[in-house]
Amino acid sequence: VDVLIRNVRPDEVQALATLIAQLGYPTSEEAVARRVERFQASNADRLAVAEMDGQAVGLAGLHISLAVEYDDPVAKLSAIVVDERYKGRGIGRALVAEMEAEARRRGCCLIFLTTAERRKDAQSFYRQLGFEETGRRFAKRLG
Ligand SMILES: CC(C)(COP(=O)(O)OP(=O)(O)OC[C@H]1O[C@@H](n2cnc3c(N)ncnc32)[C@H](O)[C@@H]1OP(=O)(O)O)[C@@H](O)C(=O)NCCC(=O)NCCS
Repeated sequence: VDVLIRNVRPDEVQALATLIAQLGYPTSEEAVARRVERFQASNADRLAVAEMDGQAVGLAGLHISLAVEYDDPVAKLSAIVVDERYKGRGIGRALVAEMEAEARRRGCCLIFLTTAERRKDAQSFYRQLGFEETGRRFAKRLG
């Protein structure tokens, strides 16, 4: 596929807000701008987009953290979404492949993610990409 995976640019908050809304988290462009800024200030976190036809049509986050269980750090994927009009063209696969390559460059020994039980499509997608279902996610909203 003719897709470019690159870091998010501050001038594309509108496209990002649309993607984040499609993922199920509608929000303002101001809020997205603030969050993107925090990513850019962090060494441990990366936010990448998939560019096709000159626009950001996919999004993925990567978070590197230390683990006491392992000698090497681990990588967590987040916020993976491909614009509805661009699904099924290998864009999601390209985003995850680039994040996996980044995790390897950073010396991570594991890449993982959590996904909601209801997202059956996403579960098939991750399995297809070689991820195994190994656990269960527990979450508690704070505040
Ligand atoms: C899940 C999602 C990111 C996949 O992106 P995509 O660009 O459509 O996926 P790709 O075209 O790269 O597909 C890669 C592989 O996964 C498989 N796959 C993708 N979507 C699938 C689905 N809905 N059902 C079954 N398999 C699927 C494809 O068959 C493909 O395998 P192949 O290359 O061997 O044919 C995208 O559908 C999406 O944004 N969904 C809504 C948001 C979401 O649920 N995100 C995950 C949050 S945890």
